[in-house]
Amino acid sequence: MVVTTDFNITLTKHSKLADTSLQNIPFGKFFTDHMLEVDFENGEWQTPQIKPYQPLQLNPSLAVFHYGQAIFEGIKAYKTIDGKVQIFRPYDNFNRFNLSAERMQMPQVPEEIFMQGLGQLINIDKDWIPNLENHALYIRPFMISTDEAVGVRPSDKYKFMIILSPTGPYYANPMRIYVEEKYVRAVPGGIGFAKAAGNYGAVLYPSAQANKMGFDQVLWMDAIEHKYVQECGTMNIFFIIGNTVVTPGLEEGTILEGVTRASALTILSEMGFEIEERSLSIDEVIASYKDGTLKEIFGTGTAATIALIKELTYRDYEMKFDVTSWITAPAIKQKMDAIKNGTAPDTHGWMYSI
Ligand code: COI
Repeated sequence: MVVTTDFNITLTKHSKLADTSLQNIPFGKFFTDHMLEVDFENGEWQTPQIKPYQPLQLNPSLAVFHYGQAIFEGIKAYKTIDGKVQIFRPYDNFNRFNLSAERMQMPQVPEEIFMQGLGQLINIDKDWIPNLENHALYIRPFMISTDEAVGVRPSDKYKFMIILSPTGPYYANPMRIYVEEKYVRAVPGGIGFAKAAGNYGAVLYPSAQANKMGFDQVLWMDAIEHKYVQECGTMNIFFIIGNTVVTPGLEEGTILEGVTRASALTILSEMGFEIEERSLSIDEVIASYKDGTLKEIFGTGTAATIALIKELTYRDYEMKFDVTSWITAPAIKQKMDAIKNGTAPDTHGWMYSI
C-alpha cells in the first residue's frame, strides 16, 4: 500500500508560469510545471513520481496505440476569494474512474495514489490556478495500457498520470446543437457510461459534420430507435418543461454519470423543481417547444460547466430560444460558482480542500 511519503518528487528548475497569461486561457492547451506518473507492473502499483511536465518515451508497440485501453477524468480546482485551494467533488471522479477502469479491464487505481497524488500535485502547482471568473485549473487524470505487444489481450502493465491545465471557459457562448440521427455514440451493454477515450474519438467525425453545418455540438440519440435523447458527448443535457426538469436517466448505461449533472439535479431540486430522470423522446421535446412549455435547455459538464443551448435542430426543424430571458440555468451556474469560489457555504460537502 502506497502512503504519502512514498511519492518521489522532483521539482522543475524552470517554471513556465511567468511566461503564461492565465487570463482567457484556452481550454486544454497549456500545462503546469509538473505531472504525476505511476506505473502498474507485476500486479502492483510502483512508487508515484511527481516530476517536471515532460514528453513520455514510448515504444511503438504499446498496447494503448493499438487497442485503445485508455480512460480519463476531468476535475476542476479553484481558488476561493480568501486564497484557499479547493477541488470540486474529486471523490466522485475517483469512483467513476475506477468504474471506467473495471469496464475496460484495467486495474483499479488506489485512493491514496489518486487523491494524494492530486493533492500533492496541485499543491506544488497551485500558483497556476487562475483567480478569474469562469476560469479554473482543469485536472486530467488518465490511464493507458503499456504492454509492448500487439496481441489482443488485456495489458499486464499500465501507466496512470495526472496533468494540470489552467483554463478559461470551454464554451464561451450559447450553443447551437444538432440532433444526430444517423450516427450513434453508445449502445446498451457498451461503454457509454465509461470515460473511455474511444467514446470521444468515435464522435469526432459526426461532430465535424455538424460543425460544417454551423453547429457547435451534436445531441446523441439512442442507438436502437434513434428517438430518445442521450447526451452531447462533452456534456449531459437538461430540459426544463413547465416546472419539471427532465434529463435522460442512467439505467441503460449509455450516458456518462456526470458529476456536474448530479450537482445540477441537487440544486434544481432545492430550487423547487420536479425532477424526472427518464427517457425523453425528441417528439416530446418538439411538442413542448410547440406548446410553449419548453423553457430552457442546457448542458452540464466539468469542462462545459452550465452551457446554455440557444438552438436545437432536428432534421430541418429549428427550435430557437432567447437565452437572455432565462433564469434557471444561469441561477444554477451562479450557485455552483459561489460554492466553488467560497462566497456561498458548501452545504453539500462538495469542496475538497488541500
Ligand atoms: C470534462 O468535462 O471534463 C470532459 O472530459 C469533457 C471533454 C472536455 C472531453
